[in-house]
Amino acid sequence: MSTNGKFVVIDGNELSFEDGETLLEVAARAGIEIPTLCYDPRLSPAGACRMCLVEVEGSRLMQPACSLEAAPGTVARTNTPKVDRNRRFLLSLHLADTIQDRETAEDNNPSRLHDLAEQYGTAGAWRPVDRRRQGRPSDTNPFIEFRPDRCIACSLCTRYCDQVEAVSAITLAGRGADTTISTADGIALTDSTCELCGGCVDVCPTGAMTEKPALAWGKAERELEKVRTTCNFCGVGCQLDLNVDREANRVVKVTSPPPGTTVNDGNLCVKGRFANDFIHHDERLKVPLVRDEEGNFREATWDEALDRAVAGLQGVAERHGDDALAFVSSSRCTGEENYLVQKMARAAFRTHNVHQCAAT
Ligand code: SF4
Ligand code: SF4
Ligand code: FES
Repeated sequence: MSTNGKFVVIDGNELSFEDGETLLEVAARAGIEIPTLCYDPRLSPAGACRMCLVEVEGSRLMQPACSLEAAPGTVARTNTPKVDRNRRFLLSLHLADTIQDRETAEDNNPSRLHDLAEQYGTAGAWRPVDRRRQGRPSDTNPFIEFRPDRCIACSLCTRYCDQVEAVSAITLAGRGADTTISTADGIALTDSTCELCGGCVDVCPTGAMTEKPALAWGKAERELEKVRTTCNFCGVGCQLDLNVDREANRVVKVTSPPPGTTVNDGNLCVKGRFANDFIHHDERLKVPLVRDEEGNFREATWDEALDRAVAGLQGVAERHGDDALAFVSSSRCTGEENYLVQKMARAAFRTHNVHQCAAT
């Protein structure tokens, strides 16, 4: 990494940086943890939550580490009594403006706000303030619910919608204590430019943006077991976590692994995130079917079904030659599965007639 010989000092550690890096990024590389609520590595910083304020020599006021770019000679301290007091004070303010009780707040999504409140403590319990944020109760879209009593106006959801999804379906609306998340004229998400990607739900640090079907299921995310898998809706290979209720043996919802950890960088599309009801559909095929003598389908074992398929393919090759066979694979398969299809075509059936639907 080229650093052009530039250094900052954070908590007494001399650290190199690249042009454009923020103090938060430089500190994170060195393992120095600065708490954040409105930061996401995929988005431009908003400086909205003020949790990341640190002391910087020469500045009268504390500075937001998430948006302050490192400059040669900057000396910052992230762990002083003043910084700590500010964190606890801010957490008190945020909690006064949302649901204080953790159990109630985390009825579906986990809450980073409550994580931090537990980690840092709060500067005295503040009485709840009057909540004035407006919701959109008439928004009947099937997947996403905005709960204004949990919102801390961090703008992660609106920035995600603008900068990652590039559709700007939701926006900060109103001023001061009335500031809320809305659509143009308060219309339903399904009447807006929204693509129902669910990214706004994923980035929300408090559960204010939440997923309706999982909320209706009634179990908090912390009670579900995450099972990592590859999405089978297209060939991109997005990684996703099935959130499984083990008692009911049911996939309750799908979440994305954190940004920076898998190929999809924390993002999912509407199908990957929400189209999971096929998993438990009554008519889903769970065993192979083969045709009986009358030509009707009947259930079979995998061994019988595979033997039938091999015999049929070999019969065609024997009667008409290897190149009478062709194999068409699917973009819903993983790269590994597609590799195996072409391997089977070439090595087992001696034909190069192999194609995949994404190539057309
Ligand atoms: S679901 Fe996606 S497109 Fe719709 S409002 Fe949320 S972030 Fe924007
Ligand atoms: S809904 Fe969530 S992500 Fe959006 S501003 Fe409110 S707290 Fe932040
Ligand atoms: S993380 Fe820096 S202001 Fe919110």
